Amino acid sequence: MPRVLEPELMDDPEQALVYARADFEKENQGFIDRFHEYYPEFTEGHILDLGCGPGDIPVRFARTLPSCRITGVDASEPMIGLADVAVKQASLADRITFRCERFQAVSLVEPADAAVSNSLLHHVPNPLQFWYRLRQLVKPDSPVLVMDLLRPDSPEEAQAIVDRYAAKEPEILRRDFYRSLLAAFTEDEVAAQLAEMNLSRLIIDVVDDRHWVVSGIIH
Ligand SMILES: C[S@@+](CC[C@H](N)C(=O)[O-])C[C@H]1O[C@@H](n2cnc3c(N)ncnc32)[C@H](O)[C@@H]1O
Repeated sequence: MPRVLEPELMDDPEQALVYARADFEKENQGFIDRFHEYYPEFTEGHILDLGCGPGDIPVRFARTLPSCRITGVDASEPMIGLADVAVKQASLADRITFRCERFQAVSLVEPADAAVSNSLLHHVPNPLQFWYRLRQLVKPDSPVLVMDLLRPDSPEEAQAIVDRYAAKEPEILRRDFYRSLLAAFTEDEVAAQLAEMNLSRLIIDVVDDRHWVVSGIIH
């Protein structure tokens, strides 16, 4: 099945609110735990989160790694508004900063010590821009963790995944999940992107029936 693009930004306020209220605890804590498992020596420094959405992953990183600070980047104003509220509620505003900017345009005073991104790449029309910026925005030899959906073989399979994992979710979330599956990349496509960008120290792993993870040290 060919890739079907979805809108790049999640900037509809209702869409952002429904996404922020959804229960992604298992997925998001799993993402933090995976980072910690892959990079146990990484306990302090500046983590960059590209496409941070409503800020749940930055909050979880800040709680798990108390000597780290986190910058979240998202170009959706409603998402950044929700992220600001989440961080204030968690009393973590001293270590988490948000930037309402496209990752393609963001610039840091100093490159970060690690970069993470969950569920962003499928939104991006040109995925090579993402890998290019990822390398630019971190110091050499920094750990990265990128996770996203895996495109199924057919629209019917995408619908079956939505029904299996989001049967009781609000219609907006089910619609976005379906569209995201159609816009996602296959394992071979991501591997080809890494090869084209000469990111040979990053490896892709398919971790379940609908997700891939790219990890490794960027150079
Ligand atoms: C599916 S959400 C994932 C949010 C968060 N990472 C999580 O796992 O909960 C993808 C986010 O990426 C943002 N996004 C898409 N394209 C972007 C871009 N070019 N620059 C910055 N943010 C972008 C969207 O606005 C949306 O908030």
